[in-house]
Amino acid sequence: MLSTEKPIKEDKMKETKETQGDQKKVELDSKDSNQEKHDEKSELFDIADTSAGSTQGLSKRAKKKLLKRQAWLDSKPERKALEKVKRREKLDKRKAEDPDLPSYSESRKRIKNIYVEKIKSPINIVFDMSFGDKMNQRDRGKCLKQVLHCYSLNRRFDHPLNLHFSNFDGIMKEEMSQRHQGFENWDIQFHTKSHAEVFLRDEKEAAEKCSKNDIVYLSSESENVIGEEGFEPNKTYVIGALVDHNLHKGLCYSLAKDAGISHARLPIDEFVNIKTRKVLSIDHVFHIIGSVASQKMSWADAFLSILPDRKGAELKEETSEASNQESITGQEN
Ligand SMILES: C[S@@+](CC[C@H](N)C(=O)[O-])C[C@H]1O[C@@H](n2cnc3c(N)ncnc32)[C@H](O)[C@@H]1O
Repeated sequence: MLSTEKPIKEDKMKETKETQGDQKKVELDSKDSNQEKHDEKSELFDIADTSAGSTQGLSKRAKKKLLKRQAWLDSKPERKALEKVKRREKLDKRKAEDPDLPSYSESRKRIKNIYVEKIKSPINIVFDMSFGDKMNQRDRGKCLKQVLHCYSLNRRFDHPLNLHFSNFDGIMKEEMSQRHQGFENWDIQFHTKSHAEVFLRDEKEAAEKCSKNDIVYLSSESENVIGEEGFEPNKTYVIGALVDHNLHKGLCYSLAKDAGISHARLPIDEFVNIKTRKVLSIDHVFHIIGSVASQKMSWADAFLSILPDRKGAELKEETSEASNQESITGQEN
């Protein structure tokens, strides 16, 4: 009996191994093909980027894409005007139902005035805009959209954070000018220099390296955790303005390490269980920071209300004591 069973088991094991091998191969093949598709898209968009002036040497498909993008850019003023009309109509309709409500222009003015009167938070948030060449045009657009969402969230916070763009030059600046005319007048400080150059107070301090702890690069890969007490006044927190679908895993973490500046992750693990990766989008990170730093929301409430449903966030039964003790707010490099 044993002698006949053994080969069958061995055969089965071999078969299982082969099947697992095949599955892995299929997974790898599919990863490769996804990567290829992404590369193909990037290439297409990049051809379109670099040849904005001339369409010579472009494939039919690339030319079509280029023309479509130009038409989209050209129609932007009309689309914006249409959106404005729709917003105005909506507000006017509500005002007709409730005459005490402000009109469209009154409401715009009110938001603006309220914002101007708000006492700002002493916390600086920098969007590191240096990743233009790591994204294709579509992702650069998504990235700017997320950053703009942060801008509009900030205007609604009780104590708006001080917003900065660092490394703001080249393709990201071009993209911004094409999409948002007049952005220079927004309440953001634009720097072509890096955040380290802007925020290290003088060369001596920079040489001493300790002041580099005043700049904290946020990265999900960091072993440091933003402490329960949250964000520290007068510190500068950097968010990588990068939409990369996990293609450049650990990039911001390596950049912070190489520059010798501090880094830290949000305390997701300490407060909630989530089903997917802990890498969040730019606007979710910013929304969480603002909710904790300006609106004084608890970490748990911020995670539960802001993380999208697909992350499946659930409150941890016990909030870890360890996390309170090791709350280091990015004091290490
Ligand atoms: C979509 S992520 C970019 C991921 C990219 N692969 C990287 O190297 O960071 C955009 C930015 O949000 C911030 N971020 C995302 N998840 C975070 C987390 N769990 N903790 C701290 N910062 C986070 C980081 O600054 C990151 O650069």
